[in-house]
Amino acid sequence: MTVTEKHRHDSNLGGPTIPQRRLLATEIPGPRSRELMERRDAAVAAGVSTVLPVFIAGAGGGVLVDVDGNSLIDMGSGIAVVGVGNSATRVTKRVRRQVNDFTHTCFMVTPYEGYVDVCELLATLTPGEHPKKSALFNSGAEAVENAVKIARNATGRDAVVAFDHAYHGRTNLTMAMTAKNMPYKQGFGPFAGEVYRAPMSYPFREPVPITGEEAATRAIGVIDKQVGAGNVACVVVEPIQGEGGFVVPATGFLPALADWCREHGIVFIADEIQTGFCRTGAWFACEHENVVPDLVTMAKGMAGGLPLAGVTGRAEIMDAAHVGGLGGTYGGNPVACAAAIGAIETMQELDLVAAAREIETQMLDRLGAMAARFPAIGDVRGRGAMIAVELVRPGSTEPDPATTAMVNAACHRAGVVTLTCGTYGNVLRFLPPLVMPPALLGEALDVIEESVAEVTG
Ligand SMILES: Cc1ncc(COP(=O)(O)O)c(C=O)c1O
Repeated sequence: MTVTEKHRHDSNLGGPTIPQRRLLATEIPGPRSRELMERRDAAVAAGVSTVLPVFIAGAGGGVLVDVDGNSLIDMGSGIAVVGVGNSATRVTKRVRRQVNDFTHTCFMVTPYEGYVDVCELLATLTPGEHPKKSALFNSGAEAVENAVKIARNATGRDAVVAFDHAYHGRTNLTMAMTAKNMPYKQGFGPFAGEVYRAPMSYPFREPVPITGEEAATRAIGVIDKQVGAGNVACVVVEPIQGEGGFVVPATGFLPALADWCREHGIVFIADEIQTGFCRTGAWFACEHENVVPDLVTMAKGMAGGLPLAGVTGRAEIMDAAHVGGLGGTYGGNPVACAAAIGAIETMQELDLVAAAREIETQMLDRLGAMAARFPAIGDVRGRGAMIAVELVRPGSTEPDPATTAMVNAACHRAGVVTLTCGTYGNVLRFLPPLVMPPALLGEALDVIEESVAEVTG
């Protein structure tokens, strides 16, 4: 049955009941996907990339099923989005109900309860016991842009500090904050001004090992000298860097930075767009070091696959912007809010914080053993279900992006959807749905091990 016929019959192709198995019915990509890729290439702008050219017909739990009948193990969650699994029951139920009631009014024109429900939940779930308020948007980049707007308005200062290896999005301001040129920035300038970059704590790549506190002192020294603390509106940091390479800063880096910001009246913004909503084995990654940010940016895992983003933070900072200064036509769309409520209920009901921690144990055990077997694996790191390996030339820390790309491709051919990342393109990253069954995760790890063996001998 073709996808169109399936849709005509209104039967579900995905959701949590989809069989949790890896099944290769054709080569990857199969003939139907190849046909669709031809149409895609003719109709879709070349700048929009594709990691794996298989077209998906249904997904749920830990698998993606393509239009050729292949069932692939999903180690990417659509880049850290479907932590609760694709088409999770509570998400689809609430979305269906909301779609039948109304699809849009624009919250700035006539409000609705779902938006307020989500803001109340965010106030409870984000770190810190202080009074909080929120504003909702459509994408991660939009949340970061708005967090910066709010911080500038609240402080009356201009400068924004971001870090080496940072990724904050693809809009003009967030491109300026993103560190890596290719592919994100090349040819897209000029970029927004008053954005400064500080050195990150990247333990694997420190020439000499330093503590988190020392790395924070180094960053603060750069900010002090090149910007001046009194000019800084906000410091924006990913508690674990995502696109930059799943960089986990040394313990002590984030708390020292947050303390320094507090001392100098600088808004400390945690970009939890990739790390939030149970992904790292805590509701938010800042919790691992008891860091309480002034503002948190969120998106991705928040709404079970629907586009929704938010900024939550200290009420007095969030309220600094004048009436009408924040918003957007679609921000906090009612269908996306319904999905977020369903996704958060799922996280609570299934205890996905605990699930992420179990995934961490399973993955670190296996990947640690692989690192001992394969000298190309220079580092294994991450938290919860946000784990990566950094591939290097054996015996050195020299990045090996070519081997990384080959291992990634071997995983794809074998039916496991993996992703790469990193400033040097040499990090293989894993972001399984938090509902991935352990046996399926074990099979994905087998394939990853076989792929490393095939490529590096
Ligand atoms: C930490 C972080 N910030 C911001 C963004 C941008 O989010 P979006 O792609 O929804 O604009 C991303 C996306 O990968 C991210 O990982």
